[in-house]
Amino acid sequence: MPNDMLNIALPKGRLGEAVYERFEKAGFGCPSIRENNRKLIFENPQARVRYFWVKPSDVAIYVERGAADCGVAGSDILLEYSPDVYELLDLGLGRCRMAVAGRKGFADNTERALRVATKFPNIARDFYMKKGREIDVIRLNGSIELAPILGISDVIVDIVETGKTLLENDLEPFEDIVPISARLIANKVSFKFKNGLINALLGGLEGETK
Ligand code: PRP
Repeated sequence: MPNDMLNIALPKGRLGEAVYERFEKAGFGCPSIRENNRKLIFENPQARVRYFWVKPSDVAIYVERGAADCGVAGSDILLEYSPDVYELLDLGLGRCRMAVAGRKGFADNTERALRVATKFPNIARDFYMKKGREIDVIRLNGSIELAPILGISDVIVDIVETGKTLLENDLEPFEDIVPISARLIANKVSFKFKNGLINALLGGLEGETK
């Protein structure tokens, strides 16, 4: 990949579209990205930018490995996987929270390990370790809310955005773990060698929030 362009991994989906609009306003527009097709790579040599649409949970991998110089990842993913990247800016988008939830009226039996279903085993382990509570992690990939309903876990550690999924499944939030939002991240080597471009992006994005 040529050195004179900024390669940016965007999370596919609604968040990615909101993020792209911010990048466009920051001077890194790429009109072809609005063509609604299944292409995954778009570039605008005039603006010296190339975008990749990446699965949200994979953005940090592309950035860490240098396939992308920058990207936007949820702070949930950064906490869970601790990728070796620089976190440059809180974009304030995709706000939600990581929380413990379970069936209404659930009472913890501290005589045995708490069964915790989650996509975020490291966040869950860290949270309960600090409390000194022994847990048994049940690692799932989605529809986490089903686990306590079907009885394979006592609680879940998951993202809560509007709270609708919990409500509609007769679950309730018990405790917040950490607020979550989308972050601009950068590859450490790119940050050094493409510092001018990355700072131009950062400055443009920061300028919008002021
Ligand atoms: C996330 C999360 C919850 C839901 C929370 O799921 O795991 O299920 O969103 O949003 P709400 O509070 O607004 O209802 P996602 O859509 O990513 O699907 P999955 O985890 O089941 O794959």
